[in-house]
Amino acid sequence: MKVIVAKNSDVASKKAFDLIKDAMNNGVKVLGLATGSTPVTLYKLMVESDLDFSNMTSVNLDEYIGCGPDNDQSYRHFMQVNLFDKKPFAKTYVPDGLATDEAAETKRYDKIIDDNPIDLQILGLGRNGHIGFNEPGSPFDALTRKVPLTASTIEANARFFDNEEDVPKFAYSMGIGSILKSKEIVLMAFGKAKAAAVKAMIEAPASVDCPASALQKKDNVVILLDEDAASELNASSINENI
Ligand code: GLP
Repeated sequence: MKVIVAKNSDVASKKAFDLIKDAMNNGVKVLGLATGSTPVTLYKLMVESDLDFSNMTSVNLDEYIGCGPDNDQSYRHFMQVNLFDKKPFAKTYVPDGLATDEAAETKRYDKIIDDNPIDLQILGLGRNGHIGFNEPGSPFDALTRKVPLTASTIEANARFFDNEEDVPKFAYSMGIGSILKSKEIVLMAFGKAKAAAVKAMIEAPASVDCPASALQKKDNVVILLDEDAASELNASSINENI
């Protein structure tokens, strides 16, 4: 893991953008993408850039069960509005939140991941250390599956909904095993609310209690933090300040 602490989230997002640009200059064709507030500035930089994504494929991490593309809370909708409608990709994949046959949908999505090996995966971080919707306790070798969301995630995501009761209780999520197959991973985490999860991800022994700690087992992982998210780290854990 390479841990980079930026002066603020804009500087960190610009660094993530530069890593994507470098990867594309090196011939990368498949991006793994994430939702949430964390990558919004990165997607804005991608939209405003002169990068051409029309030969690129994207594979998203997760989708709320019960939310179709027309639902403005769906992650498909989020991706269309923040990126795909403005910067067309050749192909974009997000799990189908309306799929009712769980076994068929998870198998379908695993085949998409196998057919489109992810070159560079962008990740955010849940306050409880989740990546995608792999909540604490998720096995490190799991593939795509239906997952129940924890109370803390439902509470954290309630800010995007009118009522907490409206937050979906289940999602389809790429598993940690699939995430770890990506050739390169860039995880971003910003703000004080992420500081404890950041510390557990980097400094505690890898454990299913903090799903993101699975990244300790992998090469080619860059962690981009702002100063608040890095505030509980030991100085010796930080590789670079930007
Ligand atoms: C969500 C998503 C994750 C995201 C995380 C953090 O629930 N499933 O992919 O990284 O929680 O969200 P935010 O960036 O809004 O803090």
